[in-house]
Amino acid sequence: MLKEELLQIKEKLEEGYFPQWLLSDPEIYKLEQEKIFYNTWLFLAHESELKKPGNFITRMLADDPVILMKNKDGEIKAFLNSCPHRGARLCTEDYGKKKTHTCPYHGWSFNTNGELIGIVAGNKLYGENMKKSEWGLRPVPRLESYQGMIFGNLDPDAESLDEFLGDMKWYFDIMLGRSDGGMEVRGVPHRWVAKANWKMTSENFAADPYHVQTTHRSAVELGLTPNDPLYASYGHQVVLQNGHGINIITSATGRSANRYQGLPESFEPMFEKNLNKEQLEVFSKVTNFVGGVFPNLSFLSSCSGTEGNKYNHLQFRVWRPLGPDKIEIIVWFMIDKALPEEYKEKSYKGFINTFGAAGTLEMDDTENWARIIEASQGKMARDRSLNYNNVINYMMGYDNLKPDDSFIGPGTAYPTCYTDHIARSMHKYWFELLTKEEKEVVTDGFNYTNTK
Ligand code: FES
Ligand SMILES: [Fe+2]
Repeated sequence: MLKEELLQIKEKLEEGYFPQWLLSDPEIYKLEQEKIFYNTWLFLAHESELKKPGNFITRMLADDPVILMKNKDGEIKAFLNSCPHRGARLCTEDYGKKKTHTCPYHGWSFNTNGELIGIVAGNKLYGENMKKSEWGLRPVPRLESYQGMIFGNLDPDAESLDEFLGDMKWYFDIMLGRSDGGMEVRGVPHRWVAKANWKMTSENFAADPYHVQTTHRSAVELGLTPNDPLYASYGHQVVLQNGHGINIITSATGRSANRYQGLPESFEPMFEKNLNKEQLEVFSKVTNFVGGVFPNLSFLSSCSGTEGNKYNHLQFRVWRPLGPDKIEIIVWFMIDKALPEEYKEKSYKGFINTFGAAGTLEMDDTENWARIIEASQGKMARDRSLNYNNVINYMMGYDNLKPDDSFIGPGTAYPTCYTDHIARSMHKYWFELLTKEEKEVVTDGFNYTNTK
Protein backbone atom coordinates (compact mmCIF):
# COMPACT_ATOMS: atom_id res chain seq x y z
CA MET A 1 0.00 0.00 0.00
CA LEU A 2 2.73 2.43 1.05
CA LYS A 3 4.78 1.28 -1.93
CA GLU A 4 1.94 2.06 -4.37
CA GLU A 5 1.59 5.47 -2.80
CA LEU A 6 5.31 6.06 -3.26
CA LEU A 7 5.26 4.92 -6.89
CA GLN A 8 2.70 7.62 -7.65
CA ILE A 9 5.04 10.41 -6.56
CA LYS A 10 8.13 9.19 -8.45
CA GLU A 11 8.04 11.63 -11.33
CA LYS A 12 7.32 14.68 -9.24
CA LEU A 13 10.08 13.74 -6.82
CA GLU A 14 12.58 13.72 -9.67
CA GLU A 15 11.43 17.18 -10.73
CA GLY A 16 12.08 18.55 -7.26
CA TYR A 17 8.70 18.30 -5.50
CA PHE A 18 9.07 16.54 -2.14
CA PRO A 19 5.86 15.69 -0.24
CA GLN A 20 6.32 16.96 3.30
CA TRP A 21 4.59 13.98 4.95
CA LEU A 22 7.68 11.89 4.07
CA LEU A 23 9.53 13.77 6.83
CA SER A 24 7.28 12.76 9.69
CA ASP A 25 5.58 9.48 8.80
CA PRO A 26 6.31 6.54 11.17
CA GLU A 27 5.64 3.97 8.41
CA ILE A 28 8.18 5.64 6.14
CA TYR A 29 10.66 5.58 9.01
CA LYS A 30 10.12 1.82 9.46
CA LEU A 31 10.52 1.22 5.74
CA GLU A 32 13.73 3.28 5.71
CA GLN A 33 15.16 1.11 8.48
CA GLU A 34 14.39 -2.11 6.60
CA LYS A 35 15.20 -1.03 3.07
CA ILE A 36 18.05 1.41 3.64
CA PHE A 37 19.71 1.05 7.03
CA TYR A 38 19.67 -2.77 7.09
CA ASN A 39 21.16 -2.96 3.59
CA THR A 40 23.65 -0.16 3.04
CA TRP A 41 27.17 0.49 4.24
CA LEU A 42 27.10 2.52 7.46
CA PHE A 43 30.15 4.25 8.89
CA LEU A 44 31.28 2.86 12.23
CA ALA A 45 34.74 4.09 13.13
CA HIS A 46 38.15 5.23 11.93
CA GLU A 47 41.07 2.82 12.25
CA SER A 48 43.03 5.32 14.37
CA GLU A 49 40.45 4.83 17.14
CA LEU A 50 41.76 1.29 17.58
CA LYS A 51 45.50 1.75 17.81
CA LYS A 52 46.68 -1.24 19.85
CA PRO A 53 45.67 -4.90 20.23
CA GLY A 54 42.96 -5.07 22.85
CA ASN A 55 41.55 -1.61 22.02
CA PHE A 56 37.79 -1.68 21.61
CA ILE A 57 34.95 0.72 20.89
CA THR A 58 31.22 0.24 21.02
CA ARG A 59 28.94 1.78 18.40
CA MET A 60 25.50 1.29 16.90
CA LEU A 61 25.06 -0.27 13.47
CA ALA A 62 21.50 0.84 12.60
CA ASP A 63 19.71 -0.41 15.73
CA ASP A 64 22.20 -3.15 16.68
CA PRO A 65 24.82 -2.40 19.33
CA VAL A 66 28.20 -3.57 18.08
CA ILE A 67 31.68 -3.86 19.51
CA LEU A 68 34.81 -3.34 17.40
CA MET A 69 38.05 -4.82 18.70
CA LYS A 70 41.63 -5.07 17.58
CA ASN A 71 42.91 -8.62 18.06
CA LYS A 72 46.46 -9.63 18.88
CA ASP A 73 47.31 -9.92 15.18
CA GLY A 74 46.28 -6.32 14.64
CA GLU A 75 43.06 -7.16 12.77
CA ILE A 76 39.89 -5.24 13.49
CA LYS A 77 36.82 -7.39 14.15
CA ALA A 78 33.23 -6.37 14.82
CA PHE A 79 30.55 -8.32 16.66
CA LEU A 80 27.04 -7.89 17.96
CA ASN A 81 27.53 -6.50 21.45
CA SER A 82 25.21 -9.06 22.96
CA CYS A 83 26.23 -12.14 24.91
CA PRO A 84 25.09 -15.37 23.22
CA HIS A 85 24.23 -16.90 26.62
CA ARG A 86 21.09 -14.89 27.42
CA GLY A 87 21.54 -11.86 25.21
CA ALA A 88 22.83 -9.35 27.76
CA ARG A 89 24.75 -6.38 26.46
CA LEU A 90 28.32 -7.57 26.83
CA CYS A 91 30.32 -4.34 26.93
CA THR A 92 28.83 -1.23 28.47
CA GLU A 93 31.77 1.13 27.95
CA ASP A 94 32.26 3.45 24.96
CA TYR A 95 35.90 2.53 24.48
CA GLY A 96 38.92 1.06 26.26
CA LYS A 97 41.51 -1.70 26.18
CA LYS A 98 40.91 -5.27 27.32
CA LYS A 99 42.16 -8.71 26.37
CA THR A 100 38.98 -10.33 27.66
CA HIS A 101 35.38 -9.17 27.82
CA THR A 102 33.37 -10.71 30.64
CA CYS A 103 29.60 -10.58 30.57
CA PRO A 104 28.12 -8.86 33.62
CA TYR A 105 25.17 -11.29 33.83
CA HIS A 106 26.62 -14.82 34.37
CA GLY A 107 30.28 -14.18 33.69
CA TRP A 108 30.93 -15.81 30.31
CA SER A 109 34.07 -14.35 28.79
CA PHE A 110 35.28 -13.72 25.25
CA ASN A 111 38.64 -12.87 23.69
CA THR A 112 39.36 -10.22 21.05
CA ASN A 113 38.53 -12.71 18.28
CA GLY A 114 35.06 -13.00 19.77
CA GLU A 115 35.71 -16.59 20.89
CA LEU A 116 34.06 -17.88 24.05
CA ILE A 117 36.98 -18.66 26.33
CA GLY A 118 35.44 -18.98 29.77
CA ILE A 119 32.21 -20.27 31.32
CA VAL A 120 31.77 -19.95 35.07
CA ALA A 121 31.85 -23.53 36.45
CA GLY A 122 31.42 -24.69 32.84
CA ASN A 123 32.90 -28.17 33.32
CA LYS A 124 30.41 -29.00 36.04
CA LEU A 125 27.31 -27.57 34.40
CA TYR A 126 27.25 -28.51 30.72
CA GLY A 127 27.31 -31.80 28.86
CA GLU A 128 29.13 -32.79 25.67
CA ASN A 129 26.61 -31.14 23.39
CA MET A 130 27.67 -27.74 24.57
CA LYS A 131 30.62 -26.83 22.36
CA LYS A 132 32.34 -23.63 23.34
CA SER A 133 33.52 -23.08 19.78
CA GLU A 134 29.90 -22.67 18.67
CA TRP A 135 29.07 -19.96 21.16
CA GLY A 136 31.33 -17.11 20.20
CA LEU A 137 30.13 -13.54 19.64
CA ARG A 138 28.10 -13.09 16.47
CA PRO A 139 30.14 -11.26 13.81
CA VAL A 140 28.77 -8.23 11.98
CA PRO A 141 27.81 -9.66 8.54
CA ARG A 142 30.16 -7.37 6.58
CA LEU A 143 33.00 -5.12 7.67
CA GLU A 144 35.16 -3.29 5.12
CA SER A 145 37.25 -0.16 5.13
CA TYR A 146 38.59 2.48 2.80
CA GLN A 147 41.38 4.95 3.72
CA GLY A 148 40.96 3.95 7.37
CA MET A 149 37.20 4.52 7.37
CA ILE A 150 35.50 1.37 8.70
CA PHE A 151 31.99 0.61 7.51
CA GLY A 152 29.63 -2.19 8.50
CA ASN A 153 26.74 -3.69 6.59
CA LEU A 154 23.94 -5.86 7.99
CA ASP A 155 23.32 -7.42 4.59
CA PRO A 156 25.70 -10.33 3.95
CA ASP A 157 25.01 -10.10 0.20
CA ALA A 158 25.62 -6.38 -0.18
CA GLU A 159 27.88 -5.06 -2.95
CA SER A 160 31.45 -4.33 -1.80
CA LEU A 161 32.21 -1.07 0.00
CA ASP A 162 34.50 -0.25 -2.90
CA GLU A 163 31.66 -0.45 -5.40
CA PHE A 164 29.27 1.35 -3.09
CA LEU A 165 31.59 4.33 -2.59
CA GLY A 166 32.34 4.51 -6.32
CA ASP A 167 33.89 7.81 -7.35
CA MET A 168 33.67 9.16 -3.82
CA LYS A 169 36.95 7.28 -3.29
CA TRP A 170 38.73 9.79 -5.55
CA TYR A 171 37.70 12.60 -3.18
CA PHE A 172 38.34 10.50 -0.05
CA ASP A 173 41.88 10.01 -1.33
CA ILE A 174 42.38 13.80 -1.22
CA MET A 175 40.85 14.29 2.22
CA LEU A 176 42.13 11.14 3.89
CA GLY A 177 45.10 9.88 1.88
CA ARG A 178 47.09 13.02 1.02
CA SER A 179 49.51 12.78 3.96
CA ASP A 180 51.92 10.03 4.95
CA GLY A 181 50.39 8.22 7.91
CA GLY A 182 46.87 9.31 6.89
CA MET A 183 44.46 10.95 9.28
CA GLU A 184 43.83 10.38 12.95
CA VAL A 185 40.86 10.98 15.19
CA ARG A 186 41.62 13.42 17.99
CA GLY A 187 39.62 13.20 21.20
CA VAL A 188 36.52 11.07 21.35
CA PRO A 189 33.60 11.61 18.99
CA HIS A 190 31.03 14.15 20.22
CA ARG A 191 27.57 12.63 20.59
CA TRP A 192 24.19 14.12 21.34
CA VAL A 193 20.54 13.67 20.48
CA ALA A 194 18.66 16.26 18.43
CA LYS A 195 15.17 16.82 17.10
CA ALA A 196 15.54 16.29 13.35
CA ASN A 197 14.72 13.98 10.48
CA TRP A 198 17.88 12.23 9.25
CA LYS A 199 17.17 13.09 5.60
CA MET A 200 17.29 16.80 6.40
CA THR A 201 20.60 16.66 8.25
CA SER A 202 22.20 14.46 5.58
CA GLU A 203 21.15 16.82 2.82
CA ASN A 204 22.26 19.85 4.83
CA PHE A 205 25.87 18.73 4.50
CA ALA A 206 25.73 16.80 1.24
CA ALA A 207 23.63 19.13 -0.81
CA ASP A 208 22.95 22.51 0.74
CA PRO A 209 25.67 25.18 0.78
CA TYR A 210 22.76 27.56 0.01
CA HIS A 211 21.80 27.68 3.72
CA VAL A 212 25.19 28.96 4.82
CA GLN A 213 24.75 32.65 4.00
CA THR A 214 21.48 32.91 5.96
CA THR A 215 21.70 30.31 8.74
CA HIS A 216 25.31 31.14 9.61
CA ARG A 217 24.97 34.90 9.22
CA SER A 218 26.62 35.36 12.63
CA ALA A 219 29.88 34.02 11.14
CA VAL A 220 29.81 36.86 8.60
CA GLU A 221 29.16 39.37 11.37
CA LEU A 222 32.10 38.02 13.34
CA GLY A 223 34.33 38.40 10.28
CA LEU A 224 34.92 34.63 9.98
CA THR A 225 33.33 34.32 6.53
CA PRO A 226 33.05 36.82 3.63
CA ASN A 227 30.17 39.26 3.44
CA ASP A 228 28.93 38.00 0.08
CA PRO A 229 25.62 36.10 -0.18
CA LEU A 230 27.13 33.93 -2.93
CA TYR A 231 30.33 33.04 -1.09
CA ALA A 232 29.43 29.36 -0.50
CA SER A 233 28.28 28.99 -4.12
CA TYR A 234 31.66 29.35 -5.86
CA GLY A 235 33.13 26.09 -7.08
CA HIS A 236 31.35 22.91 -8.15
CA GLN A 237 28.61 20.70 -6.86
CA VAL A 238 29.43 17.14 -7.93
CA VAL A 239 26.80 14.41 -8.14
CA LEU A 240 28.20 10.90 -7.59
CA GLN A 241 26.72 7.37 -7.66
CA ASN A 242 24.34 5.91 -5.08
CA GLY A 243 23.11 9.23 -3.68
CA HIS A 244 26.61 10.44 -2.74
CA GLY A 245 27.80 13.94 -3.52
CA ILE A 246 30.39 16.58 -2.77
CA ASN A 247 30.60 20.36 -2.94
CA ILE A 248 34.00 21.72 -3.80
CA ILE A 249 33.80 25.28 -2.58
CA THR A 250 36.43 27.78 -3.70
CA SER A 251 36.64 31.55 -3.33
CA ALA A 252 35.01 33.90 -5.85
CA THR A 253 38.20 33.82 -7.92
CA GLY A 254 38.04 30.02 -8.23
CA ARG A 255 40.96 29.61 -5.85
CA SER A 256 41.45 29.52 -2.12
CA ALA A 257 43.28 32.25 -0.23
CA ASN A 258 44.96 29.36 1.59
CA ARG A 259 46.59 26.94 -0.84
CA TYR A 260 46.05 23.31 0.27
CA GLN A 261 43.54 24.51 2.84
CA GLY A 262 46.14 26.27 4.96
CA LEU A 263 48.24 23.14 5.55
CA PRO A 264 52.01 23.82 5.87
CA GLU A 265 53.81 24.62 2.60
CA SER A 266 56.43 22.03 3.55
CA PHE A 267 53.75 19.34 3.01
CA GLU A 268 53.52 20.07 -0.71
CA PRO A 269 56.05 17.41 -1.86
CA MET A 270 54.17 14.85 0.24
CA PHE A 271 50.86 15.79 -1.40
CA GLU A 272 52.53 15.56 -4.83
CA LYS A 273 53.70 12.06 -3.96
CA ASN A 274 50.36 10.81 -2.63
CA LEU A 275 47.91 12.42 -5.07
CA ASN A 276 47.62 12.51 -8.84
CA LYS A 277 47.79 15.72 -10.90
CA GLU A 278 44.02 16.24 -11.06
CA GLN A 279 43.55 15.59 -7.35
CA LEU A 280 46.34 18.07 -6.56
CA GLU A 281 44.73 20.70 -8.73
CA VAL A 282 41.35 20.35 -6.99
CA PHE A 283 42.99 20.26 -3.56
CA SER A 284 45.19 23.32 -4.15
CA LYS A 285 42.17 25.50 -4.98
CA VAL A 286 39.50 24.31 -2.58
CA THR A 287 38.36 26.32 0.42
CA ASN A 288 35.91 23.70 1.79
CA PHE A 289 34.93 20.18 0.84
CA VAL A 290 31.46 19.42 2.14
CA GLY A 291 29.42 16.41 1.16
CA GLY A 292 27.93 13.09 2.05
CA VAL A 293 27.96 9.34 1.58
CA PHE A 294 24.38 8.09 1.40
CA PRO A 295 22.50 7.54 3.62
CA ASN A 296 23.78 9.28 6.73
CA LEU A 297 27.52 9.97 6.69
CA SER A 298 28.54 13.59 6.13
CA PHE A 299 31.89 15.32 6.03
CA LEU A 300 33.32 18.81 6.07
CA SER A 301 36.93 19.72 5.47
CA SER A 302 37.39 23.36 6.37
CA CYS A 303 39.59 25.80 8.25
CA SER A 304 38.95 27.48 11.55
CA GLY A 305 40.58 30.69 12.73
CA THR A 306 41.03 34.10 11.21
CA GLU A 307 42.95 35.11 8.08
CA GLY A 308 46.65 34.42 8.52
CA ASN A 309 45.89 31.94 11.34
CA LYS A 310 43.91 29.25 9.56
CA TYR A 311 43.93 25.67 10.75
CA ASN A 312 42.51 22.88 8.63
CA HIS A 313 40.51 19.98 10.00
CA LEU A 314 38.25 17.27 8.69
CA GLN A 315 35.09 16.26 10.43
CA PHE A 316 32.97 13.23 9.74
CA ARG A 317 29.50 12.92 11.16
CA VAL A 318 26.80 10.31 11.33
CA TRP A 319 23.12 11.17 11.70
CA ARG A 320 21.70 8.02 13.24
CA PRO A 321 17.91 7.96 13.03
CA LEU A 322 16.06 7.25 16.28
CA GLY A 323 12.60 7.82 14.82
CA PRO A 324 11.12 10.08 12.15
CA ASP A 325 11.74 13.12 14.36
CA LYS A 326 14.89 12.28 16.31
CA ILE A 327 18.53 11.55 15.55
CA GLU A 328 21.74 10.84 17.36
CA ILE A 329 24.54 13.05 16.02
CA ILE A 330 28.08 11.67 16.22
CA VAL A 331 30.97 13.89 15.13
CA TRP A 332 34.58 12.78 14.64
CA PHE A 333 37.38 15.36 14.46
CA MET A 334 40.21 14.22 12.18
CA ILE A 335 43.52 15.72 11.32
CA ASP A 336 46.65 14.78 9.36
CA LYS A 337 48.79 12.59 11.59
CA ALA A 338 51.93 14.16 10.13
CA LEU A 339 51.12 17.66 11.46
CA PRO A 340 52.96 19.10 14.47
CA GLU A 341 51.20 18.77 17.83
CA GLU A 342 50.78 22.54 18.18
CA TYR A 343 48.88 22.80 14.86
CA LYS A 344 46.66 19.86 15.82
CA GLU A 345 45.75 21.39 19.17
CA LYS A 346 44.97 24.84 17.70
CA SER A 347 42.85 23.25 15.01
CA TYR A 348 40.98 21.13 17.58
CA LYS A 349 40.21 24.19 19.72
CA GLY A 350 38.92 26.08 16.67
CA PHE A 351 36.70 23.10 15.80
CA ILE A 352 35.25 22.87 19.33
CA ASN A 353 34.35 26.57 19.28
CA THR A 354 32.38 26.21 16.08
CA PHE A 355 31.12 22.59 15.89
CA GLY A 356 30.02 19.90 18.33
CA ALA A 357 27.16 20.14 20.84
CA ALA A 358 28.21 23.62 22.07
CA GLY A 359 29.67 24.99 18.82
CA THR A 360 28.41 28.32 17.49
CA LEU A 361 27.78 27.14 13.92
CA GLU A 362 26.26 23.86 15.10
CA MET A 363 23.56 25.64 17.10
CA ASP A 364 22.46 27.61 14.04
CA ASP A 365 21.76 24.38 12.17
CA THR A 366 20.14 22.32 14.93
CA GLU A 367 17.62 25.11 15.55
CA ASN A 368 16.48 24.94 11.93
CA TRP A 369 16.26 21.14 11.88
CA ALA A 370 14.05 21.18 14.99
CA ARG A 371 11.82 23.84 13.43
CA ILE A 372 11.34 21.66 10.34
CA ILE A 373 10.10 18.86 12.61
CA GLU A 374 7.76 21.21 14.47
CA ALA A 375 6.33 22.48 11.19
CA SER A 376 5.94 19.00 9.66
CA GLN A 377 3.76 17.25 12.22
CA GLY A 378 0.39 19.00 11.86
CA LYS A 379 -2.62 18.07 9.77
CA MET A 380 -1.76 20.30 6.80
CA ALA A 381 1.88 19.25 6.59
CA ARG A 382 0.90 15.57 6.78
CA ASP A 383 -1.66 15.82 3.97
CA ARG A 384 -1.02 12.97 1.54
CA SER A 385 -3.30 13.99 -1.31
CA LEU A 386 -1.67 14.03 -4.70
CA ASN A 387 -2.48 17.58 -5.73
CA TYR A 388 1.04 18.73 -4.90
CA ASN A 389 -0.12 21.51 -2.63
CA ASN A 390 1.71 19.84 0.17
CA VAL A 391 5.27 19.67 -1.12
CA ILE A 392 8.57 21.30 -0.31
CA ASN A 393 10.88 22.65 -2.98
CA TYR A 394 13.99 21.06 -4.50
CA MET A 395 13.81 22.71 -7.93
CA MET A 396 17.00 24.76 -7.85
CA GLY A 397 19.03 24.18 -11.02
CA TYR A 398 16.54 21.63 -12.37
CA ASP A 399 15.99 23.16 -15.79
CA ASN A 400 18.44 26.02 -15.87
CA LEU A 401 21.82 24.49 -15.12
CA LYS A 402 24.03 22.34 -17.34
CA PRO A 403 26.96 20.20 -16.16
CA ASP A 404 30.42 21.71 -16.50
CA ASP A 405 32.33 19.16 -18.60
CA SER A 406 35.63 20.95 -18.04
CA PHE A 407 35.71 19.91 -14.35
CA ILE A 408 38.63 17.51 -13.90
CA GLY A 409 37.35 15.21 -11.14
CA PRO A 410 34.94 12.26 -11.52
CA GLY A 411 31.17 12.67 -11.24
CA THR A 412 28.69 15.07 -12.83
CA ALA A 413 29.85 18.56 -11.85
CA TYR A 414 27.68 21.68 -11.88
CA PRO A 415 29.35 25.10 -11.98
CA THR A 416 27.88 26.32 -8.69
CA CYS A 417 27.22 24.84 -5.26
CA TYR A 418 23.85 26.63 -5.00
CA THR A 419 21.81 23.95 -6.73
CA ASP A 420 19.62 21.01 -5.64
CA HIS A 421 21.24 18.43 -7.92
CA ILE A 422 22.73 16.31 -5.13
CA ALA A 423 19.52 16.56 -3.09
CA ARG A 424 17.44 15.29 -6.04
CA SER A 425 19.94 12.50 -6.63
CA MET A 426 19.67 11.53 -2.93
CA HIS A 427 15.88 11.45 -3.23
CA LYS A 428 16.14 9.32 -6.35
CA TYR A 429 18.36 6.74 -4.68
CA TRP A 430 16.26 6.83 -1.50
CA PHE A 431 13.18 6.16 -3.62
CA GLU A 432 14.87 3.29 -5.53
CA LEU A 433 15.85 1.56 -2.29
CA LEU A 434 12.48 2.08 -0.66
CA THR A 435 10.57 0.64 -3.61
CA LYS A 436 13.02 -2.18 -4.47
CA GLU A 437 11.56 -5.68 -4.70
CA GLU A 438 12.13 -7.97 -1.73
CA LYS A 439 15.09 -10.32 -2.08
CA GLU A 440 14.23 -13.99 -1.87
CA VAL A 441 15.32 -15.22 1.54
CA VAL A 442 16.80 -18.71 1.53
CA THR A 443 17.21 -20.32 4.93
CA ASP A 444 18.80 -23.62 5.72
CA GLY A 445 17.31 -24.00 9.15
CA PHE A 446 19.52 -23.52 12.16
CA ASN A 447 22.68 -22.06 10.69
CA TYR A 448 24.26 -20.41 13.67
CA THR A 449 27.64 -19.06 12.68
CA ASN A 450 30.53 -19.26 15.06
CA THR A 451 33.63 -17.11 14.89
CA LYS A 452 36.02 -19.83 13.77
S1 FES B 1 23.90 -13.38 29.51
FE1 FES B 1 26.03 -13.27 29.36
S2 FES B 1 26.76 -14.78 30.67
FE2 FES B 1 24.62 -14.97 30.80
FE1 LIG C 1 25.15 24.68 8.50
